[in-house]
Amino acid sequence: MKEAVTLVEVGPRDGLQAWKHPIATSARIGLIERLRKAGVARMEVGSFVSPKHVPRMADTAEVMDAVGSRAEPGDMVLVANARGLEQAIAQGARAIAVFTAASDAFAQKNIGCTVAASLDRFAPLVETARAAGINVRGYISTITDCPYSGEVAPQAVVPVARALTEMGCGEISLGETLGRATPRRIAAVIAAVAAHVPMDRLAAHFHDTYGMGVANVREAVRLGVRTVDAAVGGLGGCPFAPGATGNVASEDIVYLLHGEGFATGIDLDALLDAAAYCRDAMGIAPVSRVFNALRGGGLR
Ligand code: HMG
Ligand code: MG
Repeated sequence: MKEAVTLVEVGPRDGLQAWKHPIATSARIGLIERLRKAGVARMEVGSFVSPKHVPRMADTAEVMDAVGSRAEPGDMVLVANARGLEQAIAQGARAIAVFTAASDAFAQKNIGCTVAASLDRFAPLVETARAAGINVRGYISTITDCPYSGEVAPQAVVPVARALTEMGCGEISLGETLGRATPRRIAAVIAAVAAHVPMDRLAAHFHDTYGMGVANVREAVRLGVRTVDAAVGGLGGCPFAPGATGNVASEDIVYLLHGEGFATGIDLDALLDAAAYCRDAMGIAPVSRVFNALRGGGLR
């Protein structure tokens, strides 16, 4: 039997949160439905954050209702504060993610406080969520580079990963927010964190700005990571990470993993349909190599 790697689809949240134009709620719903049809079992369906900071996610409650998130343990939403958690609980979320960083400068821009302050803020939220039976993921952004303060040492990531794990996050997603690192630096961070947090609790969340995303995912999987975040069509970017482009594309990762002998439970053709839907229903063109190779348009 093939070994499994779980793909966490972040397109409906990370993929769309920074899009420059408004996106119809019906299109976000249509995208999630197509991703489910493709066999995606874990997905970020939105976030409960300040609509002033991230207007594209303001309709997350409506989206969750429409796609039946109450009944889907694999549907996840981001929350940044107590108000966001209240909204997630009211919507019957089964999984949430809290998010901080390995650099204070990025945390300040993204969530308005230092890393240490964010950990203090999240601890009671995680406790409340867990008491309500909600699974919690902890994100660490800027694991190798910060857009404001430069390179980040692997050892700077370790205490954040430990703190999130100790407060009750069942999974730590390592965010290479800028998409600048090459596999050597990714390997160094994973080795440093895996000395303190079990490998089966780590997820790889890589952006593809410099075209290193697939190589970096391959490296993470080679080291034993079995949960990989990706966005359909290669959409995405954080509004607080200037210059960084999309996430590594789900279809590139599924193609890679299947080719390397792993099972994902995802149908590549149906995933390409979901990518095509982004173009047809939202006017957002997929930028992934695999999409362009298999669905035309030539390579970018
Ligand atoms: P703040 O301005 O410091 O705090 O923001 P505030 O409490 O003064 O709130 C500002 C306004 O937002 C207020 O409205 C609040 O009511 C409202 P006003 O009084 O001015 O009219 N507000 C809310 N509204 C609805 N729902 C809420 C909520 N909270 C406040 N939950 C805050 C602090 C944390 C709220 C803000 O900084 C924020 O929302 N940040 C979220 C940023 C975000 O979502 N970033 C993208 C996700 S992270 C990412 O993409 C990286 C990742 O992919 C991994 C990687 O790639 O590295 C995960
Ligand atoms: Mg991201």
